[in-house]
Amino acid sequence: MVPWREAMTEALYGPSGFYRRAAPAAHFRTSVHASALFAGAVVVLADRLSAALGGPLDLVDVGAGRGELLTQVAALAPGRFRLTGVEVADRPPGLPDEIRWTGETPECTGLLIANEWLDNVPLDLAEDGRRVLVDAGGSESPGPVLDDAEQGWLDEWWPGGGRAEIGLSRDEAWAGAVAKVRRGLAIAIDYGHLAGDRPGGGSLTGYRNGRQVPPVPDGSCDLTAHVAMDSLGGSLVRQRDALRSLGVSGERPPRELATTDPARYLRELAAASEAGELLDRHGLGAFWWSVTRIGLPSGHDGDPLDLDHR
Ligand SMILES: C[S@@+](CC[C@H](N)C(=O)[O-])C[C@H]1O[C@@H](n2cnc3c(N)ncnc32)[C@H](O)[C@@H]1O
Repeated sequence: MVPWREAMTEALYGPSGFYRRAAPAAHFRTSVHASALFAGAVVVLADRLSAALGGPLDLVDVGAGRGELLTQVAALAPGRFRLTGVEVADRPPGLPDEIRWTGETPECTGLLIANEWLDNVPLDLAEDGRRVLVDAGGSESPGPVLDDAEQGWLDEWWPGGGRAEIGLSRDEAWAGAVAKVRRGLAIAIDYGHLAGDRPGGGSLTGYRNGRQVPPVPDGSCDLTAHVAMDSLGGSLVRQRDALRSLGVSGERPPRELATTDPARYLRELAAASEAGELLDRHGLGAFWWSVTRIGLPSGHDGDPLDLDHR
């Protein structure tokens, strides 16, 4: 039996870990897979940031999967940004040459984005002040008393005893990534919860081939837990509001267009349906964006980088 964090680390990122072998898109659907409108919004934001910073910009994608977001950005804005994918997995074959691929987040100036990375950062579970231990089959037993840092995190962010997920490792991982940004924006996007609305009993679960499965740390499935978004330290905005402020609209085209220009009508209808998925208040639209400004003046009304103005 080992602590959950250790078990998750091995199961997801060990030599034969799930993410060394599996492409995320084969097992679940993120905003990046749902629609290229998401990459389009990232380009709009990067362009605004570029104008604010006045110069060429890094766009760093942490937990880049198979490089899907950066590939779309490269197609939409060839040569416009210095693109870097940060990944545990090897460089995918066929990735455009302009995308750099690395295992370590580089120092950068510009936009650092992490879509559904932190929910896969291993974490420890606590039950009534003790660390929870687990074996490779998923059976659990109570472990040692939590250390001061973990107990301190729970006291501040997830008080009340019972079963809880200790977000300290996610906070530290995110702080490490943010520290690499000299000037610009760092944005973590994920499903998560805030104080007062933590999931009773926790949220740890597994995914395999598009289906939710029990969280067994044997390398056969994704292991994920919702992120305590408020402990990350950025300003928070729902994805639906952030994307709307970047021009994504779920508005359907006018009916008359179907007769005057049917091809355009169909194109715009398809785009509206994709946007609808990204903005869905019961789905991807309810995700949180944690936005940290580094070396930028703080936002004000009308600030093109102020995603949190609605
Ligand atoms: C849920 S997937 C998200 C992929 C992509 N961002 C998307 O939105 O489709 C999480 C990815 O984060 C990667 N990852 C996890 N920890 C990492 C780390 N410390 N450094 C780099 N990549 C990591 C995993 O290998 C996995 O590909």
